Amino acid sequence: MMEKEILVAGGTGDLGGRIIKALMKNGASVRALVRPGADPVVVELLRSSGAKIVEAKLKDKEALVAACAGASCLVSALAGLREVIVDTQSLLLDAAVAAGIPRFIPSDYSTDFTQLPEGENRNFDLRKEFMRMLDEADIKATSIFNGAFSELLNYNIPFLDHKNKTVAYWEKSDWRVDFTSMNDTAAFTAMAALDDDAPRFLRIASFQVSAKEMAAASGYELKDRGTLADLDAYNKIERAAHPEGENELYAKWQQSQYMHSMFSAHNEVLDNERYPGLVWSKLAEYLR
Ligand SMILES: NC(=O)c1ccc[n+]([C@@H]2O[C@H](COP(=O)([O-])OP(=O)(O)OC[C@H]3O[C@@H](n4cnc5c(N)ncnc54)[C@H](OP(=O)(O)O)[C@@H]3O)[C@@H](O)[C@H]2O)c1
Repeated sequence: MMEKEILVAGGTGDLGGRIIKALMKNGASVRALVRPGADPVVVELLRSSGAKIVEAKLKDKEALVAACAGASCLVSALAGLREVIVDTQSLLLDAAVAAGIPRFIPSDYSTDFTQLPEGENRNFDLRKEFMRMLDEADIKATSIFNGAFSELLNYNIPFLDHKNKTVAYWEKSDWRVDFTSMNDTAAFTAMAALDDDAPRFLRIASFQVSAKEMAAASGYELKDRGTLADLDAYNKIERAAHPEGENELYAKWQQSQYMHSMFSAHNEVLDNERYPGLVWSKLAEYLR
C-alpha cells in the first residue's frame, strides 16, 4: 500500500500544528500548505518536525491544485470569519476536487451545529454555509464535532468561572456539555484523516459534564442564568449594538452565542472508540 499523504491547511495554527504532530506520530506523511508571509519560525518548526512545506497563494488556483496533487485527504484547520471559513475554504475545496483528492475535513471542530437553527451563532452559520458547498462537491467529507475545547475551562467562562467561583447554566442544570482537549481533537482528527471509511460526521468528547456535576466537582456555586430564549434575545440585542464585532472572530456576543449553543446541542452518541488506543483527557485536569 502506498503511504498516505495528508495535506494540512492551517498547520501554522494551534490546532493545525497539533494535527500535524499527531499525523506524524501515526507514520503518515504530511504536506503543510502555508501561505507566503507565514511566520518563518513556525514554518521552520513544521519543516524540522518532518512535514513537507508547500507554499502557495490561496488565490492562485494553479498553484493550489499543484499543491493538492496526490494527497489522500485535505485537512483544514483554518480559523477566521467569512473570508476564511467560506471564501478560502471554497478555494481549497475547488482545488482539492480539481486535483482529485478523495477526502476533505473542514475546519469545524465544534458543537454539532447541524442540530442548531441559523441565526443563533454567527461562526456556526458560516460553517453551515460552507457545509452546503462541501456537500454539493464531488469529494467525501468528514466533520469533527468535539463540543468546546476543554482548554476554555481555564479562562473563566461562565460554565466554570474560577474568579467568581460559579458555574452558570441556562435552563438545564442536568444538560451535559461536550468538552474535548485540543490534543484529543487533534489525535482523533489525524486518525479520521487516515481513515478512508470515516463517515460524514464524527462526534467525540474527552468528557461530558452538566452544570450540576461541574458545581459538585469544583465546589463552586451553581447559578441559574435564565432561559435559552432570553439568552438568544440578549445575544441578538448585543450583536446589533456592537457591529464592530462582525469583524472580530471572538466578539463578546459571539462568546455568548457559544454559551447558547453549548446548552442547545450536544453529542448523544460518541465515536471516541472508533480508533482504539486514544487516551482521553479528564475534567479533573481543569479543576483548581
Ligand atoms: N471548539 C472550540 O472550542 C474551539 C475553540 C477554538 C478554536 N476552534 C476551532 O479550531 C480551528 C482552528 O483554530 P485555531 O485556534 O487552531 O486557529 P489559529 O491558531 O488562529 O490558526 C489559524 C490558522 O488559519 C490560518 N489562517 C488564518 N487566516 C487565514 C487566511 N485568511 N487565509 C489562509 N489561512 C489563514 C493561519 O495561518 P497563518 O499562520 O498564516 O496566519 C493559521 O494557520 C478553527 O475551526 C476554530 O474555530 C474551536
